[in-house]
Amino acid sequence: MITSMETAYPLKGKTAIITGGNTGIGFGISTAFAQQGANIAIFCRNQQSAEEDIKELSQYGGVYKFYRTDISDFDNCKASVDAVCADFGGIDILVNNGGVAAMGGVLDYGEDLKDWFHCIDVDLNGAFRMCYLVGKKMRDAGKGGKVVNITSNSGNMCNIPSFTPYNVAKAGLNRLTKCLAWEWAPYHINVNAIAPGFTHSNFTKGNPPELEKFMCEKVPVGRFGEPIEIGALAVYLASESSDMVTGSVVTIDGGYNLAR
Ligand SMILES: NC(=O)c1ccc[n+]([C@@H]2O[C@H](COP(=O)([O-])OP(=O)(O)OC[C@H]3O[C@@H](n4cnc5c(N)ncnc54)[C@H](OP(=O)(O)O)[C@@H]3O)[C@@H](O)[C@H]2O)c1
Repeated sequence: MITSMETAYPLKGKTAIITGGNTGIGFGISTAFAQQGANIAIFCRNQQSAEEDIKELSQYGGVYKFYRTDISDFDNCKASVDAVCADFGGIDILVNNGGVAAMGGVLDYGEDLKDWFHCIDVDLNGAFRMCYLVGKKMRDAGKGGKVVNITSNSGNMCNIPSFTPYNVAKAGLNRLTKCLAWEWAPYHINVNAIAPGFTHSNFTKGNPPELEKFMCEKVPVGRFGEPIEIGALAVYLASESSDMVTGSVVTIDGGYNLAR
């Protein structure tokens, strides 16, 4: 618990796992955490981009490491979580950010239903696997912890009609956040979610300018969010300042949700 704002935000010496911490919103969170003194374990599949990021982060003076991890694979997640504990001596913060989008009408799916299963397996089950594995480590270490799930404003609204598995996965992750917050409060593990709206990242990189302009017109503040802005909120939810906040889903979408 904080007693003064002078010591409110720094994450100095804390160890954070950030899934998908190598690109877009995840890299915004990695940057914000590094600037606040955290050590970071980046969990993702693309080694090259993670290593380039680690070079960039090295100016902030912490320890930053890449763990090749596919969050849809339980054994891979478990091996990486164990490796972080061995390398850093424990885990203080978990950010479940890694995710995929799934576009297309449900009635156009093939009978293997892979578009549905893949999105649910990464966006919802991937976060669950990581919560399960890291939650156990945090409980057993007895020092509490912070979990921040990156969901989406699409978890609360049918934003785009052909986004069904994504919307469902993010709604599920919002509910998982609340269930775990209650279940894990006795262990002093806070579980919260950030629900971004349109934010610049690989998700949005291919958008033609006219589409971005059209989308911005629907956002009261008139622009997309930037990854570092999500990072700033994640720092708050990962720091002692938010010890009284658990089970919250904080929307950061420039007011997009207000008319929906
Ligand atoms: N951008 C937006 O407008 C927006 C809005 C609301 C919510 N979000 C959420 O924000 C999060 C980050 O997305 P982004 O916009 O920053 O997109 P992005 O730049 O495409 O990043 C996606 C990240 O997820 C990782 N990832 C994907 N599949 C994975 C897997 N199976 N195992 C491990 N990591 C995996 C990717 O790393 P590798 O490919 O290297 O594994 C990458 O780092 C997502 O959860 C997304 O739903 C984004």
